Amino acid sequence: MTLEEKIGQLVQYNDTGDSPAAGAQPAAGKAAVIVAVNPVTANHLDVMQLAATGRVGSMLNTIGAERTNTYQHLAVDKSRLHIPLLFGADVIHGYRTVYPIPLGLAASFDPELVVSLAHTAAEEAATAGVRWFYSPMVDISRDPRWGRTAEGAGEDPYLGVAMARAYIRGYQGDDLSQPGRVAASVKHFAAYGAAEAGREYNTTDMSEITLRQVYLPPYKAAVEAGAATVMSAFNSLNGVPASANPFLLSKVLRGEWGFDGFVVSDYTAVMELLNHGIALDPATATRKAITAGVDVDMMSHFYDTQLPELIRTGKVPMAVVDEAVRRVLRVKFAAGLFEHPYAEGTEVTSAVAEHRPIVRKGAEESFVLLKNSNLADSAPILPLSPDRKRIALIGPLADEAGEMVGAWGGAGRNPDIVTVRQALAEHAQKSGGTLLYAKGTEIDDPSQAGFDEAVKVARDADVAVLALGESNAMSGEAGSRAYLDLPGNQEQLLEAVAATGKPVVLLIFSGRPLVLDWAAKHVSAILEVWFPGTEAGNAIADVLYGDVAPSGKLPMSFPRAVGQEPLYYNQFPTGRPPIGIDLSKPPGGDSRFFSRYIDVPNDALFPFGFGLTYSTFAYRDVKVSRSSIPLSQALADRSTPLVEATATVTNTGNRTATEVVQCYVRNLGASVEQPVRSLKGFARVTLAPGESKPVAFPLGFNELSFINVENSPTIEATHYTVWIGGNSLADTQAAFVVDGPVQSADSH
Ligand code: BGC
Repeated sequence: MTLEEKIGQLVQYNDTGDSPAAGAQPAAGKAAVIVAVNPVTANHLDVMQLAATGRVGSMLNTIGAERTNTYQHLAVDKSRLHIPLLFGADVIHGYRTVYPIPLGLAASFDPELVVSLAHTAAEEAATAGVRWFYSPMVDISRDPRWGRTAEGAGEDPYLGVAMARAYIRGYQGDDLSQPGRVAASVKHFAAYGAAEAGREYNTTDMSEITLRQVYLPPYKAAVEAGAATVMSAFNSLNGVPASANPFLLSKVLRGEWGFDGFVVSDYTAVMELLNHGIALDPATATRKAITAGVDVDMMSHFYDTQLPELIRTGKVPMAVVDEAVRRVLRVKFAAGLFEHPYAEGTEVTSAVAEHRPIVRKGAEESFVLLKNSNLADSAPILPLSPDRKRIALIGPLADEAGEMVGAWGGAGRNPDIVTVRQALAEHAQKSGGTLLYAKGTEIDDPSQAGFDEAVKVARDADVAVLALGESNAMSGEAGSRAYLDLPGNQEQLLEAVAATGKPVVLLIFSGRPLVLDWAAKHVSAILEVWFPGTEAGNAIADVLYGDVAPSGKLPMSFPRAVGQEPLYYNQFPTGRPPIGIDLSKPPGGDSRFFSRYIDVPNDALFPFGFGLTYSTFAYRDVKVSRSSIPLSQALADRSTPLVEATATVTNTGNRTATEVVQCYVRNLGASVEQPVRSLKGFARVTLAPGESKPVAFPLGFNELSFINVENSPTIEATHYTVWIGGNSLADTQAAFVVDGPVQSADSH
């Protein structure tokens, strides 16, 4: 390959040309300024011509089979070496048939379902020639102000690991070259989810212990599952931008984890090294990125302009470029692009009928029932009784197809989407009921002009169903919020409708936990539905009418007030835990000098792992298989379980339902402080009324180890407590110890 051909493999351009990007070339010694221009248009690049001459290796946002095939023919037929292009896209939760946002899917605690859903997206997109997804996003996020919380699996590393593996399996299968398989790009490496104060693109700064114990595990799991590519993040980590970070990209990713795919920068991230202030010119930014381990430059237009001179002057060794090219080509070979470079089969141009049932199931499993109070007649409001014939459906999200998908709606089309209004109207028609509808207000608009009508339809009905929440654009990339309330005047609308005295069922559409303090006190039922996707209305109707019992559990803590953030269940204990203090009361007397707020309790309004259903469950016989494990065995045997925790779960209600049984562990006495609890196992269990089942959680080195001050995973002679229950506050427990020589105090 000529140098130009090699560099071509490391260059990626956006086809649509409408995204903000950068091209500013700062004067020597001056800070860079990003201008919202696209390097393709700003520099009059003819990308088709680049494809025909082997000077671009991959594309993003090339839409449709016709267009990908046009480019591909240029690369394959015209370029000297006939190397096919790799087409990437942000297919995050479905291509044409859109399933719930990843945060919603995480609430299902159902990795197998995620495997199947991810596969549908791969099959659909491959028909358009897209063979590479910028997904999964596995950034742990403990602060819902960060809008990209919507794109990941929430606050917990154990759940994050399970979801990361599931997406990789679903996209890539066992053999990437097979039809309907796409290469994954695990993103955003690394620790982007810890962006300070939840502000988008912001800095992250954390200890290496926290990095390795909390943030890295899902990326590592994805790499172990065979992820073909990794995307380097925008943020800096401990002062070094992730897209020029040798510690992350070389030491950890390639050195420790043995990753042999390629790393693509996030969009213009190489250019943004100028803005981070670690490079004063494009040449330095390029050198720092590629030598740190970024193989492909997404949209900075730096690798193609800077590398020739950097190689000529020896500032970047040719070996670095050669290695990057090998990595890219390995993925192209693995994807079978040399054998079948073009879009597969018949292009899918709308939601696929055969995919709708599983997408509907995915939505149903993602919903979390947060509240379901008993009404005067002592039956809970949900599922809606057939006697409640007149339903008032109110709210800006009740009939807005385009707002059902959340951030990154793939190539979903609005006409394919079932709204809540459509589904409830169909139900009313079949069951002889009446559906009244009033929009009430917009998602974010101060006008109260629609309130009167909303109140009127509520008065005329047996129950009011309110569809409130965020718009798609309020979460996802660049969707950080400083307030976590219902946007606009939706809360006032809710209050006005609740004041009618009619029972209120509140549906919350959101890409993150919201502050639902008022609603939790005043409405009859709350169902968190995230952004459910194409089958939104049908899935919601199934759950409201009880054809399906909800089974989702929260993948993030829901705060009482935004000032509690970052709020996560697996926090450290502090030296002043407020045990025995009534935190709902302002401090007075002896209750002040604790780790607490003076104006809000410490705990979540709805904790991690929480979710109700239409039945109830009881836990008994929480046990561990042995009370003591020799330390020597715990350290020697890293693959087989060391102890098994078990419990018996019983359905104590009167309908069949599914419970996500959760196992939490606390390690006390270690040389490094450990969280008050950490999730170490979960299982979805479906039980008929009165039925009981034993559930077992094997705990081995992975579950029991922690990262020590040498930044290595280890187990010490310490005490462990295990809880098994239906949420992170489960109170049925058992205990065991790891027995052996205790570390002496002066060894640390
Ligand atoms: C986002 C990535 C995305 C990329 C390509 C960036 O702005 O941070 O998540 O994959 O654009 O669209």
